[in-house]
Amino acid sequence: MKFGHFDDSNREYVITNPRTPYPWINYLGNEDFFSIVTNTAGGYSFYKDARLRRITRYRYNNVPVDDGGKYFYINENGKLWSPGWKPVKTELDRYECRHGMGYTKITSEVDQLEAEVLYMVPLGYHGEVQRVKLTNHSDRKRSFSLFSMVEWCLWDALEDNTNFQRNFSTGQVEIVNSTIYHKTEYRERRNHYAFYTVNEKLRGFDTDREVFLGLYNGFDAPDAVVESQSRNSHAHGWSPIAAHHLEIELEPGEEKQLIFVLGYVEVPGADKFVENQVINKVPAEQMIAKFQKPEDVDRAVEKLASFWDDLLSVYQLEHSEEELNRAVNIWNQYQCMVTFNFSRSASFFESGIGRGMGFRDSNQDLIGFVHQVPERARERIIDIASTQFEDGSAYHQYQPLTKKGNDAVGSNFNDDPLWLILACDEYIKETGDWSILDVMVPFDNDESNKATLFEHLKRSFYHVVHNLGPHQLPLIGRADWNDCLNLNCFSETPGEAFQTTENKEGGVAESVFIAGMFVLYGDAFVKLCEKRGLDKEALEAAGHIDDMKKVVDEHGWDGLWFIRAYDHFGEKVGSNEREEGKIFIESQGMCIMAGIGLEDGRARTALDSVKERLDCEYGIVLNNPAFTKYYVQYGEISTYPEGYKENAGIFCHNNPWIMIAETLEGNGDAAWEYFRKICPPYLEEISDLHKTEPYVYSQMIAGKDAFKPGEAKNSWLTGTASWNFYAISQFILGIRTDFDGLVINPVIPKAWDGYVVTRKFRGATYRIEVSNPTHVSTGIAEVSLNGEKLEGNLVPICQEGSVNQVGVVLGK
Ligand code: GLC
Ligand code: GLC
Repeated sequence: MKFGHFDDSNREYVITNPRTPYPWINYLGNEDFFSIVTNTAGGYSFYKDARLRRITRYRYNNVPVDDGGKYFYINENGKLWSPGWKPVKTELDRYECRHGMGYTKITSEVDQLEAEVLYMVPLGYHGEVQRVKLTNHSDRKRSFSLFSMVEWCLWDALEDNTNFQRNFSTGQVEIVNSTIYHKTEYRERRNHYAFYTVNEKLRGFDTDREVFLGLYNGFDAPDAVVESQSRNSHAHGWSPIAAHHLEIELEPGEEKQLIFVLGYVEVPGADKFVENQVINKVPAEQMIAKFQKPEDVDRAVEKLASFWDDLLSVYQLEHSEEELNRAVNIWNQYQCMVTFNFSRSASFFESGIGRGMGFRDSNQDLIGFVHQVPERARERIIDIASTQFEDGSAYHQYQPLTKKGNDAVGSNFNDDPLWLILACDEYIKETGDWSILDVMVPFDNDESNKATLFEHLKRSFYHVVHNLGPHQLPLIGRADWNDCLNLNCFSETPGEAFQTTENKEGGVAESVFIAGMFVLYGDAFVKLCEKRGLDKEALEAAGHIDDMKKVVDEHGWDGLWFIRAYDHFGEKVGSNEREEGKIFIESQGMCIMAGIGLEDGRARTALDSVKERLDCEYGIVLNNPAFTKYYVQYGEISTYPEGYKENAGIFCHNNPWIMIAETLEGNGDAAWEYFRKICPPYLEEISDLHKTEPYVYSQMIAGKDAFKPGEAKNSWLTGTASWNFYAISQFILGIRTDFDGLVINPVIPKAWDGYVVTRKFRGATYRIEVSNPTHVSTGIAEVSLNGEKLEGNLVPICQEGSVNQVGVVLGK
């Protein structure tokens, strides 16, 4: 069952039924000011940090779900309704929510009165602009009240949710004409306030929530709205809000536009006040002046659209399957930018108060957006590397506001350091910017202790070499990519966090997954050394990689698949010898991506085992059989009920590793089948089961052992976005960035006739036309550049600004 449809020409998903199976959200903002908005106008805003600078309040896991947001109310002769359907939930004659690139537009109609609300954050602006268009489609004159309402958050979202003994006495506002200022704590240490305004004279206002709503009412029936009479309340403590009351009259056929702005302002110390208690409003007034006329909004909308045109134009596909076009050209790339902006901090499953930026997560996210914003990718790499320790290990997370490592989450997730090599390698391949390797980067943010970025990569590489276990496999530490495989933790205390609890002394558990990673990204390090003429360095590193390959051959193969790990007692994890958790996905993907087993048939055997044991209707599950009891020596993985999360859920992040592995085997049909199974636009028809948005990936889909296989959770902020874009763009469609050009190597379903990719790369444009006349999966008969046949499949770097035709004929 569907709840809407894609509108590809406008790059929108159009929701036509407000009762989606879960709130379906969108993100507004690109740099500093951000909002999350649902299809029924729920959500909240924040400046830079979703915890420390929360601007409007939001209650997660509320009843009913998603109550609280940027609400408008209409009261026409006692008939109440909301343009976003919620919170009033009056049946609408028409409802449509368009989630687009950085904006959301909700349009609805009741009794021939139409209300369209556009929510957007203009580029370079610290505020959300809401344009409300009201149109009278009837032939009688209409007069009604329009109310707006947002609820202020007292800045620190965690405090706001917990410290009521203080909070209920601190709230402060000022009201000047149509602008309501929120200035809680401004008189003391804060130098920032927020405001909510409208470009029209008010009939009245409210700033005290209880007065506006009535203490025992919900958002759906505020006293002021029901009575069409605002109270002009002035909040002193309790819960400050901002609600405007406007009287509107519309002649038949008349349309009226109103512009609301929710803004955030910082004022340096000495200028904070104009007189005692009265805040300096000049910066707010300047912001407000920018959005007074409908044309001001139109211009901001156009600018935002051309911003997205640019970002998305770097990789564009023309293919006969529209679902694939919309995934590749629009939504997957959009999601990659969102994960770049938010990491794992604020979604409808991440409260914005829990987590900083993950070291491994951010490095992996980068491979999905580096082609769109290479300068910002460069900055991100330096930020991440600056948190690394001298011995090559890494904080597991760092805070975006301070950019410092987060002590509370600790370190010793022994896969972390290697992901830095992946990010740098992909960055250089995209940009050709070798100078990044010479940047002096601190260890643990200590400016007095720096080394080149190249040295940081070397420390990442040798961190593995210096931390080998009894089988000479890499020690796993707290966990590797799988945060829940806590092999040294042995936790028996209720409520203890698996990832931060002290590990068993002398933990010797080892990871075959990290071994595969070491071969894969270690090899990337060797190539970087070679390119820089560091032959000795390269040779030495290559020696360690050879050793690791031998160790994997000897201790990492179970007969039909790769073993996952060795536990604290030296027992195999992910082996046929076990009763549960016999096979895991991660080591199959990582070892084969590293090339292990490609030549001797083990890769094929392992992939066949994946197909047989892990694949199901909705994707590839993480392990099988699922754990049905708690294994103290395995940790959190065995705490989840069967089929969910890391315990045999379809953890979408690692599915593309298998897709890529299949492409390395030349098996385009299998790679495509796995891609298609979890690719959101292909799941639109089962939206009722899938539950989360049909336009973005979710972290997890319940696996075959779950109560409800196919039901997704944790949409938006997941490494799934970048890995799937990487798999489809570089390995299946096969347009791969390399140091000296684009390597063309499609591995596709045999049935495909061909496709066209337009790729901007190092300042030139390449129109790559792939044809498949003999219906093969892979293999190249000919590549030509501007009509001239090339030797091999490397398209060299062309002149900046040039537009080039690349012809690719697949076959023998
Ligand atoms: C979550 C984490 C990621 C981890 C994965 C598997 O997505 O953000 O770092 O690799 O779970 O445990
Ligand atoms: C939990 C989740 C896992 C996530 C980790 C990090 O263990 O299951 O997916 O990576 O928390 O906080």
